[in-house]
Amino acid sequence: MQVAPTPQIAVLDAGGQYCHLIARKVREFGVYAAVYPSETPAHALSGAKGLIISGGPSSVYDAGSPTVDPAIFSALHPVLGICYGLHLAAHLLGGTVTRGVKGEFGIATLELENPSNPLFDGLPPMQQVWMSHRDLVTGLPEGFRNLGRTVTCPVAAAGDVARGLYGVQFHPEVVHTTHGKRLLSNFLFNVCGCAQDWDPGRRIPMVEESIRETVGSRNVFFFTSGGVDSTVAYTLCRHALGADRVRGVYVDTGLMREGESEFVKRAMPTVSIESAQDEFLLALEGVCDPERKRQIIGEQFLKVQERVAEQYGLLDGHWILGQGTIYPDTIESGGTAKAALIKTHHNRVEGVQRLLELNLIVEPLSSFYKDEVREIGRELGLPAELLDRHPFPGPGLAIRCLCSSESGPWPSTPINSVGVQGDSRSYAPVHIVDEFPIAAAGLHATATELINGTDGVNRVAALVASRSPLSEMQVSASSLTAVRLARLRRADHIVRSACDRTGFEKRVWQFPVILIPLGTADLPDSIVLRPVDSVDGMTAQSVLMEERELRKLAEELLAVDGVAAVLYDLTHKPPGTIEWE
Ligand code: XMP
Repeated sequence: MQVAPTPQIAVLDAGGQYCHLIARKVREFGVYAAVYPSETPAHALSGAKGLIISGGPSSVYDAGSPTVDPAIFSALHPVLGICYGLHLAAHLLGGTVTRGVKGEFGIATLELENPSNPLFDGLPPMQQVWMSHRDLVTGLPEGFRNLGRTVTCPVAAAGDVARGLYGVQFHPEVVHTTHGKRLLSNFLFNVCGCAQDWDPGRRIPMVEESIRETVGSRNVFFFTSGGVDSTVAYTLCRHALGADRVRGVYVDTGLMREGESEFVKRAMPTVSIESAQDEFLLALEGVCDPERKRQIIGEQFLKVQERVAEQYGLLDGHWILGQGTIYPDTIESGGTAKAALIKTHHNRVEGVQRLLELNLIVEPLSSFYKDEVREIGRELGLPAELLDRHPFPGPGLAIRCLCSSESGPWPSTPINSVGVQGDSRSYAPVHIVDEFPIAAAGLHATATELINGTDGVNRVAALVASRSPLSEMQVSASSLTAVRLARLRRADHIVRSACDRTGFEKRVWQFPVILIPLGTADLPDSIVLRPVDSVDGMTAQSVLMEERELRKLAEELLAVDGVAAVLYDLTHKPPGTIEWE
């Protein structure tokens, strides 16, 4: 097995969702980085050439909030604080951090104040950056100079150049910070003097070796979904252990898209199909809460596994479970030491946690992101038909079929959705605007303004077409029923066919179609269109469709039985997650 080099960059985890993303971006530059708890003592980090303190959901003034050993600032290596990392540096070195009047979530323009410093070397005086914060640095520590500002944030970058201490309020690790990569490379090579010592091309043999190590002499029983992650993980296991030691099973949960089981039969002939629609639907009967749905689905998968294991005689202690879990699935379930719980992933429910503790699970891709998984799949020679599929969540249509325990007129009875603001999860009413002026310039900017300026709002959707005015609509108490799932499956199929036809499918990273219980007495549901662009699912941009195509699609969707209206989600992530639950 490849022995990882001593990390040149130590990323201190202050609980931010993007903590591992920082380490991964650093590795992309050929520099080995590893993640450490933020409180790691300075002497334990002395081998590193530089430190990066991640963002985090807390406020430096909160009791018990993550901190760092102040001695790291007087050690010999440079430090870059990102977001909360900047606040920590300012706070511990004698500056001031204050709660902002309003949050800043999304794209902003950074204006450099003192451009001639090694961190911003070669970067333009004005640049797009990506923000997710409410707290601000309002007083700089001694020796620090302000390096940049945005309209909302007077100290968006600061540094003590002589001591190699820097902090940025924005997130250079996120793709929407246009020059983020250059800034990170400046930090690594100009400021820290790192050398290249890491080759991502070596990861397949490394992963295969670790599969053999985890599995030992046992065999693997793999749940595949037909999606990219489980297909790549299954293939890695077959390569690492030999095809006869890995058994693949696809469970038809009844929560899949139209034609999915047929696709799996055709594309993955070595996988057996297990039908469990009735079990899943029965277990989910009357359940409205999204977290509960995920937990039930995760546990249900385990029950099917037990049943199948018995059926195939896999209970002799020689089999362990394989899963296609990827890095964001673990991190959003609180996978780093301090990350806020964004959602419980279905393959992180209690039963699975137990198996993990007992060393009865192998997850070959749990430290990789979607784009890396696709790359690994290409290196393994898997066909584009499998690799280029849009991501589809494990709990399937269950988390795209929104339920309500209450009935009443909208908006006093709201439709709630999940969002992620400043590293924590929010669950709030969706703001729906009555019309969709698709040709209007700055539609997304207006939506972002609306969310940033309104407390308790994390998502904006606009009405594209409807059978009756929004003001006359109501929310009806509803759960996951066969009828509603069939309605959503039909709508989803119509959207996918239209997008295949127009080529829009290839323009977006993912296109959830969501059913919400907003409508009239005769037509109880509405359809939400949520096309997004993304690189790794950690952040995303809402994407607009061409107007003529959208109007045509909306007409087709209004013809689906029980559908009252079609809405379009204009929210970027953050503040809104990609899925509505
Ligand atoms: P969010 O909604 O958190 O989604 O912005 C980010 C990515 O994760 C997918 N997703 C899930 N995948 N189980 C999964 O396997 C889940 O419970 C789940 N929830 C979200 C989502 O489709 C997107 O690609």
